[in-house]
Amino acid sequence: MEIQEKSQEDTQAAIVKKNVFSGIQPTGIPTLGNYLGAMRNWPLLQEEYHCIYSVVDLHSLTVRQEPAALRKQTLSLVALLLACGIDPEKSLLFIQSHVSAHAELAWLLNCYTQFGELARMTQFKDKSAKHPDNINAGLFCYPVLMAADILLYQTDLVPVGADQKQHMELARDVAGRFNGIYGEVFRIPEPYIPKEGARVMSLQEPAKKMSKSDENPNAYILLLDDADTILRKFRRAVTDSEAEVVYREGKDGINNLITIYSIVTGKTVPEVEHEFAGKGYGDFKSAVGEAVAEALRPVRETYADLLKNKDYLAEVYTKGAEKARAIAGRTYGKACKKLGLVLPPRP
Ligand code: TYM
Repeated sequence: MEIQEKSQEDTQAAIVKKNVFSGIQPTGIPTLGNYLGAMRNWPLLQEEYHCIYSVVDLHSLTVRQEPAALRKQTLSLVALLLACGIDPEKSLLFIQSHVSAHAELAWLLNCYTQFGELARMTQFKDKSAKHPDNINAGLFCYPVLMAADILLYQTDLVPVGADQKQHMELARDVAGRFNGIYGEVFRIPEPYIPKEGARVMSLQEPAKKMSKSDENPNAYILLLDDADTILRKFRRAVTDSEAEVVYREGKDGINNLITIYSIVTGKTVPEVEHEFAGKGYGDFKSAVGEAVAEALRPVRETYADLLKNKDYLAEVYTKGAEKARAIAGRTYGKACKKLGLVLPPRP
């Protein structure tokens, strides 16, 4: 009797488990910003939610990529996500281009997205300013592909950094518009932005977000930087002309370092301020560097081991894609049917 009740409880828990989806581009080694804003949080959700994570290689084609480098970075990112703690027994992990429904649904949704909505996207404006010689249609329609990624899996929550908020709003708008015309086809997703670390700033220009495309490598920490490099970059971090380690408006550099230190050590901001009261910026910057190097060490070590086992990586992303294809196919088929497309006969 007890066992039966327990299994009923388990079934109910499974029914109410929400769906999580997120993606990351294989455009290089991820930064500490990608890690604290997104990757680090993904494994933390796997117990409570149905989690689906993707290396979004199609998105990265919106900027020219060197083919051999893209291939290497894609596999490397699968290994890094596993090293961060994604467990393929609990979450789905796959490569976006392996599930054709992403590009297919993106086409359908393109027809329900307005030119003006896409032209307003700040990331489109920033990227087109950065690559004026390659403002391609893919770059313009990028947020629609992102909406397709999310909507295919009837996603409830999307764990992302703050820079993806505008894209999330577009995904919600497009889904709502489609549902408004055709009935409940897509679940409306919510962004899941961490309270701390949602916007990790550049170490050189702390008013700007940390980005791996920054020209100055001292501006960012890469997840695979060795401990000495991490320490050196933090020692060179731009701060201010005061000497107080306190979190206060106008102290962008110090605020960023306090946030980073607080996340990797689990200490609160007042605890950090107390720890460094009366100490100089030099001591503080070294402590942040050491704490980050230590926090990333297990990720780096596990990654190196995983990368040696290409067969295992292939098994993970192949199984992930198989399962993802089944879920995505259902939503895509439903959307096609609602639109009046003639479905091909089942094989
Ligand atoms: P991408 O690849 O640029 O970044 C991956 C994740 O890292 C977060 N992030 C940051 N968080 C805090 N501080 C920073 N400095 C920082 N830099 C990056 C991003 O917010 C993101 O969560 N469009 C997405 C990829 C994508 C996607 C999706 C995400 C494609 N389809 C569907 C969610 C759902 C992007 O370019 O992320």
